[in-house]
Amino acid sequence: MEFGDIVRRRRMVRNYTDQPVKADAVERIVDAGVCAPSAGFSQGQRFVVVTDAGRRRAVAEAAGEAEYLEQGFDSWISRAPVHIVICTDKQAYIDRYDEPDKGGTEDWNVPYWWVDAGASLMAILYAALNENLAAGFLGAHTLGDLHGILGIPAEILIAGIVTIGHPAPCPRSGSLERGRIPRGDAVHGEMW
Ligand SMILES: Cc1cc2nc3c(=O)[nH]c(=O)nc-3n(C[C@H](O)[C@H](O)[C@H](O)COP(=O)(O)O)c2cc1C
Repeated sequence: MEFGDIVRRRRMVRNYTDQPVKADAVERIVDAGVCAPSAGFSQGQRFVVVTDAGRRRAVAEAAGEAEYLEQGFDSWISRAPVHIVICTDKQAYIDRYDEPDKGGTEDWNVPYWWVDAGASLMAILYAALNENLAAGFLGAHTLGDLHGILGIPAEILIAGIVTIGHPAPCPRSGSLERGRIPRGDAVHGEMW
């Protein structure tokens, strides 16, 4: 797919068919996340790829799928054949920036471990479209005990979950009613 089409067509899709996703496609999608840039090449992004149905149900429960059902969505989280949990290893940044060519992370006012997790998220969303698949994202603010469910070490931080599958019709998110802000509110030429 042309990159411009991928950018234009990308939407968070919150429902999927039962058609499985091929393992090689999943691999390419995760690889896009792995290849995303990272501060100082710290490479702190970590991923948990979940396809087991029971585990996906547990993830969906922890992520509050019941609340989405109440809002009129389908069981999009448990139904998605693939979950990619995007994590970050903050310690990888601390260790990298302790090296002689760097100056530590103490004075960072931007936590680049989160920036890099976002870069991986975007790469994964685009890579899913490139495989003619659809993807959604759940932020980590209500993810229950995902560490326990997936055996993720306590020191590894979780950014959220990407759901991936073949798209099925889904209701429009209420957030979209806000409409897109005028381009000029977001983009400034030369000077703010
Ligand atoms: C950091 C972040 C957190 C998000 N968290 C959720 C979430 O918890 N649940 C959800 O349904 N969508 C979530 N979204 C999706 C947004 O609602 C969605 O991107 C936005 O409404 C714009 O829609 P679009 O991506 O389809 O253009 C999140 C998106 C981002 C970038």
